[in-house]
Amino acid sequence: MVSVTRAAFGELPTGLGTVERFRLRSEQLRVDLLSWGCAVAALEAPDRRGSAADVVLGFAGLEGYLQKQPYFGAVVGRVANRIAKGTFTLDGKEYRLAINREPNSLHGGLRGFDKVLWTPQVLPNGVQFSRVSPDGEEGYPGELKVWVTYTLDGGELVINYRAQASQATPVNLTNHSYFNLAGQGSPNIYDHEVTIQADEFLPVDETLIPTGVIAPVQGTAFDLRKPVELGKHLQEFGIDGFDHNFCLQRSKDRHFCARVHHAGSGRVLEVYTTQPGVQFYTGNFLDGTLKGKDGAVYPKHSGFCLETQNWPNAVNEPHFPSVLLRPGEEYNHTTWLVFSVA
Ligand code: BGC
Repeated sequence: MVSVTRAAFGELPTGLGTVERFRLRSEQLRVDLLSWGCAVAALEAPDRRGSAADVVLGFAGLEGYLQKQPYFGAVVGRVANRIAKGTFTLDGKEYRLAINREPNSLHGGLRGFDKVLWTPQVLPNGVQFSRVSPDGEEGYPGELKVWVTYTLDGGELVINYRAQASQATPVNLTNHSYFNLAGQGSPNIYDHEVTIQADEFLPVDETLIPTGVIAPVQGTAFDLRKPVELGKHLQEFGIDGFDHNFCLQRSKDRHFCARVHHAGSGRVLEVYTTQPGVQFYTGNFLDGTLKGKDGAVYPKHSGFCLETQNWPNAVNEPHFPSVLLRPGEEYNHTTWLVFSVA
C-alpha cells in the first residue's frame, strides 16, 4: 500500500506560483518530491534494526533549492551532464547552448529542468510531473514535451522519463540525488562499499569532457565490478574521487547498474536502469558551505550520485549511443532505486 499526500512547500517570487511537496509512503520508504525541479527532497529508509534515516542531501525549505546549489535531488535536462563548448551540429545546423560551466554547457544550461516549476498529477502510488520545454530553451532545438513519473512500490522508487519532440533534439534526462546511506549529514561516504557493473568507462579531459576513448576498467581505479570500500579505494589509487561515466550494457531492457552497501547501518541501494551509462559522482565539488536539512553541512565526499543517463557529450561523439530524439519517436527510460538491508 502506498499513500500520497500533498502540501504547499513554498512560494516562488511574486506571481511565479506555489511549489508543492508530495509525500509518498510505503511500508519501507518515505519519499518527498517537489514540483520545483521534480526534486527528491527527502528519502527515509530503514536500517537493519528498522530505524529510518533520511538518505538524501537537501534543504529544509524552498529558499535552499532556489539558491545556487549543485542540483540536489533534481531532474536535470534537456541534456544531463556536459556538452563540449556548448555546441553541436544537427542535420547541418549549428546550435549554441548557454555556457554555464566554462567552457561547457552543464545539465541543460543556465535554467535547466531543475530550475522550473513542473505540473504535478497525483497517481495512486506516486506523482507524475510534466512540462513543455519551449522551442529554443537554453538554445535547444524544438519544443519538447516531458513527463517524469515517480512511483513507489515497497522498498523500490521507480523513476520513468518520457519525452516527445517537435524537432530533432538531443535529450538526456536523469535524477541528481546525492545519497549518504549512513544518513544525510554524515561527514563522508568513505565507509560505503560500491559496485558498478561496467567493463568500460569514459576518461575525461581537464574540463571533464570525455576524450572519446572508451577505456576498459580492467586494472584501473575504475574497476568497480567487485565491491570496493570507497575511502580505502580512493587512497589505494591516489585519486580525489569519481566524476565519470561508466558504460553499462547498451540494451534498453532493465539491467543492473550499481549496488552500494553501508555496512554500519546495513542499508543497501541497488540501481537498475534502461540507460546505457551512469555518471558516478562522489560529491567532489561539495565544500561544506551549504546549510542542509537538520543543520547538516555537506563537505566534499559527503554524498554520492549515480546518475543513470546517456554518455556525456554524446551529441558530439558519433560512436557513443545516440542521444537524438526525432519527431514521432518517444524517449522512454526508467531507473529503479531499490532499498534493502544486508
Ligand atoms: C557532474 C559534476 C558536477 C555535478 C554538480 C555531476 O553530474 O558530473 O561534474 O559538478 O554534477 O553540478
